[in-house]
Amino acid sequence: MPYYVTTPIYYVNSTPHIGHAYTTIAADILARHYRQRGEDVFFLTGVDEHASKVARVAAEQGLDPKAYADRIVGAWRELPRRLGATNDFFIRTTDDGHKAFVQDFLQRIYDAGDIYQDVYAGLYCVGCEAFKTEAELVEGKCPLHDVEPEWIEERNWFFRLSAYQDRLLALYDERPDFVLPAFRFNEARSFIAGGLQDFSISRAGQPWGVPIPWDPDQVAYVWADALVNYLSALTYARPGEDLRPRFWPAVRHLLGKDILRFHCVYWPAMLLAAGYEVPRQLFVHGYLLLDDRKISKSLGNVVDPLDLIDVYGADAVRFWAARAVSFGHDGSVSIDSLHERYERELANELGNLLSRTTAMVARYLDGVLPARPRGDSPVRALLATLASDVADRLDVYDLTGALERIWDVVRGLNRYVEERAPWKLASDEERRRELEETLYDLVDGLGAVAVALAAYLPETSPRILAALGADPAELGWERVAYGLTPARAGIAAAAPLYPRIDAPTAAA
Ligand code: ME8
Ligand code: MG
Repeated sequence: MPYYVTTPIYYVNSTPHIGHAYTTIAADILARHYRQRGEDVFFLTGVDEHASKVARVAAEQGLDPKAYADRIVGAWRELPRRLGATNDFFIRTTDDGHKAFVQDFLQRIYDAGDIYQDVYAGLYCVGCEAFKTEAELVEGKCPLHDVEPEWIEERNWFFRLSAYQDRLLALYDERPDFVLPAFRFNEARSFIAGGLQDFSISRAGQPWGVPIPWDPDQVAYVWADALVNYLSALTYARPGEDLRPRFWPAVRHLLGKDILRFHCVYWPAMLLAAGYEVPRQLFVHGYLLLDDRKISKSLGNVVDPLDLIDVYGADAVRFWAARAVSFGHDGSVSIDSLHERYERELANELGNLLSRTTAMVARYLDGVLPARPRGDSPVRALLATLASDVADRLDVYDLTGALERIWDVVRGLNRYVEERAPWKLASDEERRRELEETLYDLVDGLGAVAVALAAYLPETSPRILAALGADPAELGWERVAYGLTPARAGIAAAAPLYPRIDAPTAAA
């Protein structure tokens, strides 16, 4: 089955922060997981370049916007690479293929009669790249960016969003899982039910952007350009191949709650107007808060994800992102909590389990593990519904719940070591069979857990499998099961998975 997953395309007005890493990590966990299940996956991320705020930063630096974007895009390509993300393409909205597609897309809406000219006057927040109503302001300022919006008055091209209210409501009523979590579905639906206003899809007097095909003096409004990336990428990511028939509309958009309306309301309406099917599903996650404030470039309280990766490694950052906050909800994070999880969960609960298991096989069995699966093994029970439980949770984007379910098994295996005390069994010749069964269960259980964790810990899982003598490349989801380990020789005590790291301040 096709599974197409996207992140928002991020503004290049500065370098990435941990909030951007968050969505990219989440999308990668899903992409990797569905590949393990044998699905046909396409994972898209990239950058949004034609924003007014990008042109402004470029001007401040004395650069032409494209020259500025060419310079900073390296840092944005670095983000997925350093996170271990397996995106199939990285889109830039300055790509020729994208620009041509946006023109075609807008022309289709124009030809359908849903674009007209009008004068718009209003308060515009450059941080949001959106017009604001008085009611949305707090003490005259945009509450998200803490700045006063600017007055803009110009003749623009407008998209007849109001004409799509009934069709959007019908869509929401037909597809109760169109937007997840359910409280975000309700938020989007009530926004639609409250009445929709047409919005401007073009800007006059600024050269930075995609020219409007029937009025080249204007450029596409940044959102009318950016949203289209999800479709345009499919037309040129693979030269000579149109991926639309394969992956559209099998798309799952991941996004933060700050851009819910654009994605859950404007985008489906634009697609309908242009004659395309609407997305399969949208998942709206919450904000990561640092010191209880939203992490944002505009607020200046950012954490560079690359600094965290330098210190803790990509896997630890991915693990923390999936685990520290229940995915979908807002949550406060701290570097201390990353450090604490690294030590307690990764180094102790997972790392020590591998060290002890391999050391005991090496020492008590000379590294030779006989095949000893048992019908009544407690590890068989521990693993019984792991594969389906994790898959069910990930089918509804519950990255946190799925990881917690896997961690149940990690804790269960640690308890099993304590209960069975292999070191006692090893001192009694008559209990050799029990010793072999116990160590078999540990190797087998840990192998299954490593496969289950591979989407979260893509560097660590192959290392665990290799240390257990298994093929580190065999990550098929059917391997998340008990008793698949054959007899093996040559298991040696493994090096620590997660070495000690001092002071959490090292990353700050
Ligand atoms: O909005 N917590 O780009 P952007 C969680 N270019 N997620 C966060 C976050 C935080 N503190 N901060 C950022 C744009 N994000 C547009 C998108 S898409 C067609 C165009 C993540 O650079 C989250 O996914 O402001 C959020 O929606 C996105 O970055 C906003 O990135
Ligand atoms: Mg933003």
